[in-house]
Amino acid sequence: MRAGGAAYAAPNAPPVVPASCVNVPDARPEVESLQAYSAPLEGRRGMLRLDFNENTVGPSPQVVEALRAIPAEQIAVYPEYDGLREAFIANLLAQHPGQHSAGAPPAHPLQPEQIGLFNGVDAAIHAIFHAYGDRGDTLLTTSPTFGYYSPCARMQGMAIEAIPYRLPDFAFPLEEIRAALLEPVGTTSAQGPPRLLLICNPNNPTGTRLAPQPILELAAAAPHTLVVVDELYEAFSGDSVLPLADFAATPNLVVLRSLAKTAGLAGLRMGFAIGAAPVIDRIGRVTGPYDINSFAVTAAHAALADQAFTDAYVAEVKRARRWLLEQLQAAGVRHHAAGGNYLLLWPDLPPEQVEDRLRQAGILVRSMAGKPLIEGSLRVSIGTCAQMERFWQAYRSVTTG
Ligand SMILES: Cc1ncc(COP(=O)(O)O)c(C=O)c1O
Repeated sequence: MRAGGAAYAAPNAPPVVPASCVNVPDARPEVESLQAYSAPLEGRRGMLRLDFNENTVGPSPQVVEALRAIPAEQIAVYPEYDGLREAFIANLLAQHPGQHSAGAPPAHPLQPEQIGLFNGVDAAIHAIFHAYGDRGDTLLTTSPTFGYYSPCARMQGMAIEAIPYRLPDFAFPLEEIRAALLEPVGTTSAQGPPRLLLICNPNNPTGTRLAPQPILELAAAAPHTLVVVDELYEAFSGDSVLPLADFAATPNLVVLRSLAKTAGLAGLRMGFAIGAAPVIDRIGRVTGPYDINSFAVTAAHAALADQAFTDAYVAEVKRARRWLLEQLQAAGVRHHAAGGNYLLLWPDLPPEQVEDRLRQAGILVRSMAGKPLIEGSLRVSIGTCAQMERFWQAYRSVTTG
């Protein structure tokens, strides 16, 4: 049953018995103690969606056109992935020309076997934990960060060491991460270094940015730890390790990219893992052969071919962000903004109340209740200038009116 949906019972069918009342076979102990990872994703259409950091204008018209042109035959055959890795590499090269001097080949050219294709970056994260995280291993990460890393660690039976960002400005706790990585103590000492280090850069939800060099140094210093850099929001104002990464020298480094937030394909699911070929191969071993459907493949080709659309959207988000920051500063609203297409603000009223009132005005934002260090804040995704003007007007009216 989908979250929020209704259970379907056929006429005259025996009553549905809740699973908790019958003897069902036990799942693995780690799964028995796990709560399904669920986000409030229902009933969002038609609203101004500033709650999931999605693209707020939709994909390139070329994506829509390509999807409309899909022949019926494509629906009946299993998806084909030929050429998608190459298209992704070409798109990366166009985005990071600084990686090589004009006309010269890149310092560390990527090969197709260094690109893993996934049903969204969520699926890549899940596969990484499935392939590398064993019972008793440690996940080292930061706190607060993207909410899907912890359940993935728990379902593998891993221990989690989450180092808090540094107040007051949520700076990256580099020294603490380095110490936990290189001189593990307590639970990790028996097993050696952490199995996985997850760095969300820029971090969701604090926006914290970390320069590429320290990440590369961490990876080089900890060859037995898989260092995963989640660069989902890098395009909006971030710092990618890709232009500098040499996966031959640091084969324990993996970078994650998605077409969800920039290119507007969140509903179709398309994510990429970039790394050393043997690592990408191992992560790919725990996925199904056709996990990405052919509509996503068609859309990805079209989106990658229209980088100008994505660039224009990213530029608009940056303009809107500057404008909103000016308003927040002028109005004296406590806020925090760094990288990514989102910011945190702390309303004077209870955040849930503001969230509810904004929802009544047709605007969705995300309360950060329960998240360490940022309790009492709302995370607001940045859309276009017009959308942020609408948000700001509504926010002023629900918090002062
Ligand atoms: C940091 C981070 N990583 C990964 C994801 C998931 O990305 P995708 O939609 O490609 O699965 C999200 C989505 O919110 C995210 O914020």
